[in-house]
Amino acid sequence: MEIIRTVSRLSEVAGQNRAAGRSIGLVPTMGALHAGHKSLVDRARSENDVVIVSVFVNPTQFNNAADLQTYPRTEEADAAMLESCGVDYVFMPSVEEIYPEPDTRVFDLGPVAEVMEGPMRPGHFNGVAQIVSKLFAWSQPTRAYFGEKDFQQIAVIRRMVELEGFDLEIVPCPIVREADGLALSSRNVRLTAADREVAPKIHYLLKQSIELKNQGLSPVEVEKATTAAIDDIDGLRTEYFQIVDAKTMQPIKEWAEAGELGAAGCATVYCGDVRLIDNIRY
Ligand code: PAF
Repeated sequence: MEIIRTVSRLSEVAGQNRAAGRSIGLVPTMGALHAGHKSLVDRARSENDVVIVSVFVNPTQFNNAADLQTYPRTEEADAAMLESCGVDYVFMPSVEEIYPEPDTRVFDLGPVAEVMEGPMRPGHFNGVAQIVSKLFAWSQPTRAYFGEKDFQQIAVIRRMVELEGFDLEIVPCPIVREADGLALSSRNVRLTAADREVAPKIHYLLKQSIELKNQGLSPVEVEKATTAAIDDIDGLRTEYFQIVDAKTMQPIKEWAEAGELGAAGCATVYCGDVRLIDNIRY
């Protein structure tokens, strides 16, 4: 496994592999790798000749300086894990290498970015589009792998791909959970012991929301009941729970409004000081 620090080397190895007719699977990450990332890497390994994983805590997608500051960084452990997964190249650049000058591009991400995380985290999705577009341009992937925990992010990246005309496949991968249902996240290490006890209730109540739908409640009624149930638990506070069309990310009022991919319930919940996101499909 080669650790790459420069954009020029990344472009070089990508170009050589593409010229040799090899498929490239890219797994973009911000490090602090866990079993959720491993599932993306394993999938990429099984579907491509060459696997590139990027590990870069991208400052332009953080709208909160403290969050950027405290984001976990575990470079050595990440490299060891990726080596054991049979990854070919790990791209671990510095901030200066990625942004020698500020990236002033503003992407027209449209309606998929105007709901949920969009208004809650101004600039976040534009920052994601900036870094992912750079990674796609430099590593020329055949396929790129993203976890469905960041459900809306996948729709935003699809939009960016359309805008930029990248010729690649976006591969969404299922959420990986702890045995008690908590979605794996690099942020989970920041949960206190007490937070960790209550955090799995988020997934439990999202699953319960399927029962509410089956009992005949409308999306808006399910949203209200589920938000109230989460907020009833000491230590949890809902920022939003929104039921949306799983493709367009637009809120629905009737289940029948959901299109070909059905509906998704997307939640952001503070567990203590830690902002957790999760979702469920209907
Ligand atoms: O999902 C993430 O970890 C990040 O948003 C990504 C896609 C690696 C871009 O920095």
